[in-house]
Amino acid sequence: MNGSKRTLVTCALPYANGPVHIGHLAGAYIPGDIYVRYLRMRGEDVLFICGSDEHGVPITIKAREQGVSPQDIVDKYHKIMKDAFTALGINFDIYSRTSSAVHEEHASKFFRKLYDEGKFITRESEQYFDPEANTFLADRYIVGTCPKCGNPNAYGDQCEKCGSTLSPEELLEPHSKLSGATPIKKKTTHWYLPLDKYEPWLRDWILEQHKEWKTNVYGQCKSWLDGGLQPRAVSRDLDWGVPVPVEGAEGKVLYVWFDAPIGYVSNTKELLPESWEKWWKSDDTRLVHFIGKDNIVFHCIVFPSMLKAHGEYVLPDNVPSNEFLNLEGDKISTSRGWAVWVHEYEKDFPGQEDVLRYVLTANAPETKDNDFTWKDFQSRNNSELVAVFGNFVNRAVVLTHKYFGGEVPANLKPEAIDAETLAAVKPCREALEKYVETFHFREALKEAMNIARIGNKYISDMEPWKVAKTDMDRTASILYTCLQICADLAIAFEPFTPFGAEKLRNILRVGIDAGHDYRAGEGVPTENFYREGESAALHTVPSTEGIVLKWDMLGDAELLPAGHKLGEAVLLFQKIEDDVIDAQIAKLEAIKAERAAAEAAKKVEPQKSEISFEQFEAMDIRTATVLEAERVPKTDKLLKLTIDTGLDRRTIVSGIAQFYSPEDMLGKQICILANLAPRTIRGIESRGMILMARQGDGKMRFITPQEVLANGATIG
Ligand code: 2FM
Ligand code: ZN
Repeated sequence: MNGSKRTLVTCALPYANGPVHIGHLAGAYIPGDIYVRYLRMRGEDVLFICGSDEHGVPITIKAREQGVSPQDIVDKYHKIMKDAFTALGINFDIYSRTSSAVHEEHASKFFRKLYDEGKFITRESEQYFDPEANTFLADRYIVGTCPKCGNPNAYGDQCEKCGSTLSPEELLEPHSKLSGATPIKKKTTHWYLPLDKYEPWLRDWILEQHKEWKTNVYGQCKSWLDGGLQPRAVSRDLDWGVPVPVEGAEGKVLYVWFDAPIGYVSNTKELLPESWEKWWKSDDTRLVHFIGKDNIVFHCIVFPSMLKAHGEYVLPDNVPSNEFLNLEGDKISTSRGWAVWVHEYEKDFPGQEDVLRYVLTANAPETKDNDFTWKDFQSRNNSELVAVFGNFVNRAVVLTHKYFGGEVPANLKPEAIDAETLAAVKPCREALEKYVETFHFREALKEAMNIARIGNKYISDMEPWKVAKTDMDRTASILYTCLQICADLAIAFEPFTPFGAEKLRNILRVGIDAGHDYRAGEGVPTENFYREGESAALHTVPSTEGIVLKWDMLGDAELLPAGHKLGEAVLLFQKIEDDVIDAQIAKLEAIKAERAAAEAAKKVEPQKSEISFEQFEAMDIRTATVLEAERVPKTDKLLKLTIDTGLDRRTIVSGIAQFYSPEDMLGKQICILANLAPRTIRGIESRGMILMARQGDGKMRFITPQEVLANGATIG
């Protein structure tokens, strides 16, 4: 298919600051895995590389928020992400990490070569600096009020409330997230890759030589190039990352987007210390990067410019990128908790990994942003996987057991419709291949499902359960035909739903030639390898009966010969009931409600009109202690409190019963406005008012001195 070329497939290295969610899967990882499984079945030599991206400012921020080290954060999420991929059958040859020693050494060498060859320029610029914390501040570390929507918690690079892209200069009242200090500007020197110099080459390489790239990818590249490229800083003032390997660069690290893509190379090197160069430095390699759309510029413009500057590496042949997946109509967001997390899916839907793989492929955001809904998930499972694929296989196998003792019957009484039905599989295969090879996995999956539809229609039309009453020879031919299609399905679905395909192979008692992998083929196994100890590089699952399915057999007239004994019929897919889906929807609704409450709580009352100092002084605010407390009968809101003001004992009626019980208030020191004109409430004279703080959602708390004072202490 690719001539003599080997294919190196990478999936974007996800940031190790949160677990994997369905948006990640749909964007890069499931498409990458389908592609690799497919190529391997076709006998191609493929290497599949991924790992965690463990540097960058958001990781340092998360660590600071949680009071732990950045290493603690990445250790935690690296494991969660690695386990999530494994659980879904996304079998990278290596899933390593950019905090590894191999990576630090390799990324440093890469930088150093470009540095020594004068490929960088240096520039002095003024950057924000926190004078109290004595450190430069990344834009994310500067917080202030958004000039567009008034959000008081906007970041120096973005307002998460209104989505505006910002620069720290635009923030009103900017302050450092570290110390609260107002940032000052300070001079600093950094290394820049002069992308402008690569622009003519990039224009030719992408716009002329890679017109076949997906429209969304090509279009984004074109608009970047048309906008003109600028030199791009490749270092940062930060204490987390790969140190800049140059004397006098203390306190500086490689910019995360400089070191992360080099991680593809370092991870290959970790897996195959002896032979990695053949994958990266030979024209016989086709490099394919699977990414999400926010990564396009880095993989199509920045990284290729780095590779070009280095001079020894292959350039990407294709960079298939998907658009974004939304969840129930809203943008997926790790920070807002709006996501379906793989590790939670695993708990809620054990053994149903294929359903997620199937739905995310069938509904993939290949050409435009798309929406994941739980209802669609349920309906695709129930009406496609269960009702078409699973139902067809189950009917064919159960009837074979019933009428033929579980053996593939001989084709005793063929009719034209049988051969026509089997012949209809070939065009599906051809279309499937064309779609996978051009990265249209959604369409490819439709073709695989078409094979199941062909089988399902055939068995429904032929009604072997009725024919069996009168004509066993004809029944034999019908089931013979059905079982050939079952074997086709075991091949066609292997890239898409590998767990179901494996179940089906067990039912049919056949093996499969799934090609070679490198999970322990050439390298020394390390903790980053999957299936430690696995020694065979040939990933073939043999069959006890000696039948091994291969991709090239898909659509052949006979895959299972008469007399071949089948295994037991088990259901390939389970129906998903309404209550299970309702529980998932309720979970999301709870997240929404929590978010709305948190937003409401943040709402700040506008400032009241100005008063004079005299007016302020006229208020007699002082401390007091609650001596007795009881509910005011027949009210929900009122408490009657007897308090000691230091001057006297008096009664105050206060509308705080929603927030405090009488027991909560007993013995508490509070602050009161003592000289408020008395009022009679529910027949009780109330003399004064308790000072309460009220937040945006109406929640109230009484004010109390930081430590207990004498009653009657004046406040002002
Ligand atoms: O967007 C992301 O999650 C980045 N961590 C992707 C990096 S891809 C590569 F260059 F390593
Ligand atoms: Zn805003």
